[in-house]
Amino acid sequence: MTQKSFIRGVGSYLPARVLTNAQLAETVDTSDEWIRERTGITQRYIAAEGQNTSDLGYKAALKALDTAKMSGDDIDLIIVATSTPDLTFPSTATIIQELLGMEHGAAFDVQAVCSGFIYALSLADAMIKSEKASNVLVIGAETFSRILDWNDRSTCVLFGDGAGAMIVSSTPYEDEKAGDGVLSTFIRSDGRHKDLLYVDGGPSSTRTVGKLRMVGNQVFRHAVKELSDSMVQCAAAVDMAIEDIDWFVPHQANQRILEAVAKRLDLRRGQVVSTVAYHANTSAASIPLALDVAISDGRIKRGHTIMLEAFGGGFTWGAALLAY
Ligand code: UT7
Repeated sequence: MTQKSFIRGVGSYLPARVLTNAQLAETVDTSDEWIRERTGITQRYIAAEGQNTSDLGYKAALKALDTAKMSGDDIDLIIVATSTPDLTFPSTATIIQELLGMEHGAAFDVQAVCSGFIYALSLADAMIKSEKASNVLVIGAETFSRILDWNDRSTCVLFGDGAGAMIVSSTPYEDEKAGDGVLSTFIRSDGRHKDLLYVDGGPSSTRTVGKLRMVGNQVFRHAVKELSDSMVQCAAAVDMAIEDIDWFVPHQANQRILEAVAKRLDLRRGQVVSTVAYHANTSAASIPLALDVAISDGRIKRGHTIMLEAFGGGFTWGAALLAY
């Protein structure tokens, strides 16, 4: 029998400080009205001084472990999706491994910017199905506030900090309604578009951390097309039709992108989970954060099917179909 990758638990964490559009408009040439109309964002969370990506990821991991009824002792692999690691090395995953008190297993980071969680989940699924791991802690954690140019109104209004986590396991969750877990994953990239969304620094090129740069309207256009196509491909791989899927949990970049994709695929009203108004764009953390919100408020229940989808710098994009 082929091994399955069951979803055992999901958790998330947001830092305490909220930065509203109105507060931002006091320091940048923007307005609450412009940000709401063009993006749907009303506020974002900002990590405290000294609070690192690993701290956010660790707190999200604790909640995911709790919902999975597991502890760090049960985990044999940690994969962290982040573009804002604590340090150039070691990986944020190894820092979280230590915070969890783990002296066993393996831990590494993946970097696929806003698509990072889909890439990490796809790897976790492959590791379980090839019997290389049994219980994988997949984390998306970011402190994008640290790589923003706070004088660039075209980017600084869009992003926030946060973390989300998921436990993927070869052992099913003890609930008779629980589904078969990861049904299908799809990942893609195209480096020809690397100059449309990037950070202008790095250890090898500039020896600095750099700031985020984006040609927003071109990213928007590609995102709508690739998100729609990747969901269709991901579902088709397991002979499932888009109309048979209960929930869509997209990367949260812009409410207008969510609506354009929903229109293209003829999704039903209320089927698309949106947290962009409150979380803004938290890059690799946005999907598990949104998923945790919809599970915690009772919308997503055991047995439901869920399509996750993301698009980000690189470009990278992808989707994952789950039976929760
Ligand atoms: O997570 C990774 C993927 N990222 C994304 O998916 C982001 C995709 N892009 C977007 O979400 C949108 O393109 C933005 C929200 C970034 C921008 O919206 P837009 O409707 O594409 O606007 P635009 O870039 O075409 O700019 C329109 C105008 C410009 O002024 P002019 O040249 O028309 O006079 C900008 O200077 O809006 C101006 N503008 C602003 N005005 C007030 C840009 N940012 C702001 C701002 N406040 N914060």
